[in-house]
Amino acid sequence: MFIDDIRVIDIPKIQDNRGNLSAIEKDILPFTFKRVYYLYDIPSGAYRGGHAHKEQLEFLIALSGSFDVKLEDKLGNKKLVRLNRPNKGLLIPNMIWRELENFSSGAVCLVIASDVYQESDYIRGIEDFK
Ligand code: TYD
Repeated sequence: MFIDDIRVIDIPKIQDNRGNLSAIEKDILPFTFKRVYYLYDIPSGAYRGGHAHKEQLEFLIALSGSFDVKLEDKLGNKKLVRLNRPNKGLLIPNMIWRELENFSSGAVCLVIASDVYQESDYIRGIEDFK
């Protein structure tokens, strides 16, 4: 997959005077998910990611705060996406290199993944990826 296959997807927001509610169901994601994990208590200056997945797709949401996602495909095309709203998610197809950085204080990154955790699905070296 390539840089143009990366998408920011709007998650519907139900808003009233008690606050907002967003739900992810039906056809919002182009995959069925098997795992949810989240990054939190992230120290200032931390760098995460630094890998691509062979098969898995992931959908990232800044549930709180903000962070940058640097993306690269195997042709070397690059994209930077800043996530800072709980009702926007970043769809990262398989075979896209990603790096997460510039986390704000209190940032929480929710990740919805198409499969369970399998180290064999990771490419952790940028040279291997290219
Ligand atoms: P890592 O891939 O370095 O996290 P990130 O992509 O956010 O930088 O994973 C950190 C550790 O957690 C590593 O030992 C693998 C483990 N891990 C799991 O056990 N289950 C999971 O679902 C994930 C994503 C990671």
